Amino acid sequence: MTQKTKKIQVINGPNLNMLGKREPQIYGSLTLDQINTDLVQHAIPLGVELDFFQSNHEGAILDKIHEIFNENIAGIIINPGALTHTSVALRDALLLMSCPIVEIHLSNIYKREGFRHKSLLADIVTGQISGFGHHGYKMALTAIADMINES
Ligand code: DQA
Repeated sequence: MTQKTKKIQVINGPNLNMLGKREPQIYGSLTLDQINTDLVQHAIPLGVELDFFQSNHEGAILDKIHEIFNENIAGIIINPGALTHTSVALRDALLLMSCPIVEIHLSNIYKREGFRHKSLLADIVTGQISGFGHHGYKMALTAIADMINES
């Protein structure tokens, strides 16, 4: 019997489409496309499939989460951008999901302005990776793939 490929949803929030141009001293010089391409390469030996979604609109991100609620998603990697610090609605949407969720930030949010120290998601996600730049996405992917393969 062939097993269905495990799908991991990668979600990037507001302003992350501007990576490469946006404050490169903080967020690095890679574009989101480059990060995603690198992630696809990383996913191959892990035997997982990736789906990418980016939006600058909170509602569109909520709609995407509602859409995948009915799919057999094995995990979520989310960089919510500034919605991390503001969005009860995003928190509530993620609470729908029962798969592992990794919250990722390119920068170390705890080393930055005080308003970035609070994540409204940190206590409802599986775990958080913050401060490892684009490597954080690969770390999240490895962690989720290992968790899936162990279960
Ligand atoms: C970010 C950190 C957030 O505070 C910020 O608003 C972002 C990016 C990061 O990846 O470091 O948009 O999530």
